[in-house]
Amino acid sequence: MITRRKFLEQSSLLATTLATGKNRFFDAMKHAASTMPVALDVNTLAQFVDPLPNPELVEAQGQRPSPADPKKSVPFYRLQAQAISSKVHRDLPPAKFWSFGPSTPGPTFETHAGDPLLVEWVNALPNEHFLPIDHTLHGAEEDKPPVRTVVHLHGAKTGPESDGYPEDWIVPGKSSLYYYPNQQDAAMLWYHDHALGINRLNLYAGLFGAFFIRDGVEESLNLPKGKYELPLILYDRLLTREGQLLYPISTDPKSPWVPELLGNAILVNGKLFPYLEVEPRRYRFRLLNASNARFYRLAFANDAPFHQIGTDQGLLTTPVPLTDLEIAPGERADLIVDFSEHRGTRLVLKNNAVVVMQFRVSSGKAVETSSLPSSLRSLPKIPESQAVETRLLTLDEFVTKTGNPAMLLLNASHWKLPVTEKPVLGSTEIWTLINPTDDSHPIHLHLVRFQILDRQPYEPWLYQTKRQLHFLGPPQPPDPNEAGWKDTVQAHSRMVTRIIVPFEGFTGRYVWHCHIMEHEDNEMMRPYEVIAPPEA
Ligand code: C2O
Ligand code: CU
Ligand code: CU
Repeated sequence: MITRRKFLEQSSLLATTLATGKNRFFDAMKHAASTMPVALDVNTLAQFVDPLPNPELVEAQGQRPSPADPKKSVPFYRLQAQAISSKVHRDLPPAKFWSFGPSTPGPTFETHAGDPLLVEWVNALPNEHFLPIDHTLHGAEEDKPPVRTVVHLHGAKTGPESDGYPEDWIVPGKSSLYYYPNQQDAAMLWYHDHALGINRLNLYAGLFGAFFIRDGVEESLNLPKGKYELPLILYDRLLTREGQLLYPISTDPKSPWVPELLGNAILVNGKLFPYLEVEPRRYRFRLLNASNARFYRLAFANDAPFHQIGTDQGLLTTPVPLTDLEIAPGERADLIVDFSEHRGTRLVLKNNAVVVMQFRVSSGKAVETSSLPSSLRSLPKIPESQAVETRLLTLDEFVTKTGNPAMLLLNASHWKLPVTEKPVLGSTEIWTLINPTDDSHPIHLHLVRFQILDRQPYEPWLYQTKRQLHFLGPPQPPDPNEAGWKDTVQAHSRMVTRIIVPFEGFTGRYVWHCHIMEHEDNEMMRPYEVIAPPEA
C-alpha cells in the first residue's frame, strides 16, 4: 500500500533529481527553444480543398505456416516503417512523416474473426530521429539507440510475444514476426508504435493504422459497407509555417517534458480540413482518436443527429442517438450518419467550435441499400459478483515546486518496479481507478476487453492521507454509448471509475497505461501479468 509518507518521499526524491544533474539537457533545451520554428496559423489556409483520403488496404504477400499449427498456413503480411513525405494540405509543402505505408495513416488491415494472420513488422527507418528525444525519460536514456520501434495491435487478444511489449523494440534494419489469432468479435482495432520512452514521438511521427475484424453478427446486420463505410482517423499535429511537424520541448528546466501535446491542425486520415462527397443515404464511419493528447467533442455545425452503434470492442446492443460525441485518445466509435435528410447541402463537422471537415451531400437520388437495425447484438452485463478480486489503483501526478507536472504514475509505482497486478487467467476482476488529478486519463489495458461499472465523485485528500474512500455523490452508470465492450476508459478527474474485466486469452506479461502519449512516456504505464490458474 502507498502511504502518504511514501507519496511525499517520492515527490521530494523527484524534486531532488530535477534540481541536479540534468543541466546538459536543459542547456540543449534552452538552445532549441530559442531556435524554435514559428507555428502555422491554420486559419490562413483555404478549407475543404482536399478530398478525404481512405488509406489503402494491406495486401498479403502469400502464405506462411502458422506458428500455432504448422500444418496450417496463414496469410503473411510485411509492413515497413519508413520515412515518407506527405501533403497535409493543398497549399502546404509535403511534410516529413514516418509511416507503415506511402502516406499517413498507414494502410488498413481487413480480416475476419477466427482467421489468424502473420505480420512481419520491419524497421526501415533512418538512424536518427527527426523529433527531439528527451533522454531524461525512462527507457530513452542516452545509451539507447535513438530510433527504436515495436508495434502493438491495440484492442487485440494476442499472445504476449506478439503484443508489442514496450521493451521489445527493434532498431533500423531489424524486423519482428508477430502472430495475430483474431479470435475475437468484430471491431476496429489499430496498430501503432509502443517503444518505451519515445512512444509519443513515434506515434506523432505517424506510425499507426487501422485494423478491422469482421464477423457473422456484423455481416448479418446489413450495415452500410463498401464505399459507404470509411475510417475517420483523427489526430492533431503542431505544424510550422513550412507545414512541417513540430514537437515542442519545455522551456521550464524544472519540468523538462511537455505534459500534453496539443496541435494547431486537426488531421482526418492525414488531411487538414478535408471534404468528402457523399450520397444522400446512410454511411458508416469508423472513428478513431489517434491523437497524442487531445480529447474531441464532435458535432455537426447544424447539430444534425447521428447514431453510435459500436465502441472500442465492437457493436453495442442498440444504436444510441447522439448529436455530439466525446472521444479520448485511443478510443474508437462506430457511427452511422444518415445524409438522406441533407440532400444537396454541406455539413461541417466541428470539434467544439473548430472546423474539422466537410461532407458534401449530392442532390441526386440515392438508393438506400443498408439498414440500421434497432437491435445489434446481445451483450450480457457481467455481474459484479463474478469478480474474484478488486484492485484499488491510483492515477498519480507529481508536480514541481513551481506547480508544473513533473511525473505521472500508476499506483505511485515506477515502470521498473516488480509486477503487482497478477490476475489469474479465466478470472474476472474489478479495477477501481482512483483519479485525484485535475485531468481525465484514458486508461487502456492490453489483451482484454472490459465493461464500465460506474463513476463516482470522491474526496481525494482523505484517500491520499487516510486511505478512506469518501464519496461525494452517487455512482453514475456509463453513458449509453459506453455501455458495451471497451478497452480504453475515460477515468475522469476526482472520480473513482470502476471497470469489470474478464482476463481471457493468454498468460504472460502485458501493460496497462494512460493513452495520453506524453503521460505514458512519463511512466503512466505499468506491466501486469496474467498468470495460470493453480493446478486443481
Ligand atoms: Cu493503443 Cu498500449 O496502446
Ligand atoms: Cu492496446
Ligand atoms: Cu494520463
